Amino acid sequence: MKKNILVTCAFPYSNGDIHLGHILENIYADIWVRYQRLIGNKVYFICSDDSHGTAILLKSIEMQVNPNIMIKNILLNHKEDFIKFNILHDYYYKTHNKYNLNFLKFFIKKSYTKNVILNKNILQFYDNKKKIFLPDRYIMGTCPNCFSNNQYGDNCIICGSIYNSLDLINPISLISKNKPILKNSNHLFLNLNILKNKIFNWIDSINLQKNVFNQLYYWLNKSLINWNISRDSPYFGFKISNRFIKNKYYYVWLDALLGYISTFYKFCKINNNNYLFNEFWNINDNNYELYHFIGKDILYFHGILWPVILDILDYRKPTNLIVHGHLLIDNYKMSKSYKNFISIKNWLKFYDSDSLRYYFSSLLSNNFNDINLSLSDFVNKINSDIVNKFVNISSRISKLLEINFNNILSKKLWNDNFYYFFVKEFYIINKYYSDFNYYKVIIKINFYLDLVNKCITDNKPWDLNYSLKNINNLHMFCTTILNIFKLISTYLIPIIPNIISKIEIFLNTKLNWKNFDKPLLNHEISKYNNIYNRIVLYNLNELMIN
Ligand code: 2FM
Ligand code: ZN
Repeated sequence: MKKNILVTCAFPYSNGDIHLGHILENIYADIWVRYQRLIGNKVYFICSDDSHGTAILLKSIEMQVNPNIMIKNILLNHKEDFIKFNILHDYYYKTHNKYNLNFLKFFIKKSYTKNVILNKNILQFYDNKKKIFLPDRYIMGTCPNCFSNNQYGDNCIICGSIYNSLDLINPISLISKNKPILKNSNHLFLNLNILKNKIFNWIDSINLQKNVFNQLYYWLNKSLINWNISRDSPYFGFKISNRFIKNKYYYVWLDALLGYISTFYKFCKINNNNYLFNEFWNINDNNYELYHFIGKDILYFHGILWPVILDILDYRKPTNLIVHGHLLIDNYKMSKSYKNFISIKNWLKFYDSDSLRYYFSSLLSNNFNDINLSLSDFVNKINSDIVNKFVNISSRISKLLEINFNNILSKKLWNDNFYYFFVKEFYIINKYYSDFNYYKVIIKINFYLDLVNKCITDNKPWDLNYSLKNINNLHMFCTTILNIFKLISTYLIPIIPNIISKIEIFLNTKLNWKNFDKPLLNHEISKYNNIYNRIVLYNLNELMIN
C-alpha cells in the first residue's frame, strides 16, 4: 500500500549562509525522498529557516539591520542555495510566522490542561558588560562530569552528559569573554519526568539506530531536568503573554520544533488540503509516517523534547530519527575558526553539486559516525568513479554505435545472462536505499562498473577479428553494454540528478524505476555529448574565500 511520508531536515538558523554541513544532511534526506518517490510512495519534504533566538538578534545588531528584514533576506538566500543543489523541498518556510505562533499558543494551553508546565524562579548567567542573559551556547567552561575544557553550557560533546549551565566549572561569556554573574529570573518549565514512560514506549516501538536507541535510553534512565522554555529580554522570538512572566519570550527551540508542524500546515493550506494535515497527525491513522533527518548534536531535542511536545499535543510521534555524524573537513570539524568553513556559494564556484552528492553518498551509512570530506579524496573519487569508469562506458560505446550503426540499437541483446545479472541486482540496491546505506550503493555501482569495463576490454569491440567476429555481434554487444549502462544509471537516479538528465538526453528515454528492466532495442539514441568532465584539485583556502 502506498505510504504518505513527511520528511524533514533540521532547520538552518537565519543568521548565515548554507554550508556544507547543512547540505550533507539535506542530500542524505533528498536521496531518500527521491528513492521513496521512485517506488511510488507519496512524500512531503519540508524544511524551514529557524528564525529566532539570541544568535539571530546578535547578528542583526552586528549587521545594523532590523531582524525581521534580515531573516527575510536570509530566507531567499537559503532557498536559492538548496535549489542549486537539487534539494527538492516541497515547501521551505520560516519559523517566524503567525501559524507557528498559533500552534505555540495551542501547545501552551494543552500543557496547562495536562498540568505539565510550571513557573520557577531561577538563577541564570548574565553578561554584565553586554547586559544580556546568556543562552547555553554562549557560555563555555569545564564539563562538571568529565572535566573536559571548552564545553558549552548545555551539554558536553566529550562525555555526552546534559547539565544545567550553572554546574559548568569556570564559565566564560562567549560574547564579552568576561566571567558572567548570576541573576534571578522567573521562567516557564515543562516537567519532562511526568511523560518519561511515554517516551520509553515510543523508542521501544520504533526501529531506531542502535547507538541512537542506547543514547536515548541513557538519558531517560536518569532523572530528566525540567525544560526551560522561556528566555529573558533582549531576545528575538515570540513574546510570552502571561501575568506571572513579564517581558520574556519563548525559547527558540520550542518554536523551532513546532515549526515542523506549522511548516507542514502552511504547505497543506496552500495546497487546499487541510484534510491531509489533520489525518497526518492523527495517532490512530497507520498510513502516515514521519522521518526527521538530524545531526547527532541535536538528538536530545528530537529524541526527548520533541516526542514530549507531540505527546502533549496528542499528535503522531516520529516513525524514525535518521541521525548522522558531524561533517569534518580534512579531519577537523567544519568551523570558521579552523579556517575550513565552506559555504555552498563558494563550493559551487569550484565544483558542481552532483559530484558532492555522489561523494557524500559514498560516505553515508545508517549510523552517526563522523563524515570526513578530504578534497583530494573527493577529486580522486569523482575522476576515478564517474569519469574513468562510468562516463567512459558511454563515450566508448557511443562512438562505435555512431560510426557503425547510425545510433540505432540492435533488435536483440548479445548476452541475456550478462544483462539480467544487473537486472537482478535491483532488489539489493532498493534495500540499500531504503535502509539509508548509500555507501553500499556506491560500492555496488563500482563493482558493476568494473565488470562492464572489463567486459569491454576483454571483447575488444574495436577489433572485429577478435571475439565478436562480425558486425551483427558488435551491434548486439554495444546495445547490451549501453543497456547495462542504462541500468546502472537508473540505480543512480536519486544521487546524481544533473548527470542523469544528460544521460536521458543521450539515451533518448526517461529513466525510471517502474520499467527499469526493459532494454532499449531497435531504438535511436542521440548523438553523444560529453556527460561529465574531469575535476581538478583546488586548495582548501580558495574555497574559503568569500
Ligand atoms: O541546530 C540547529 O541548527 C537548529 N536550528 C535546528 C532546529 S531543528 C528544528 F527543530 F527546527
Ligand atoms: Zn563531559
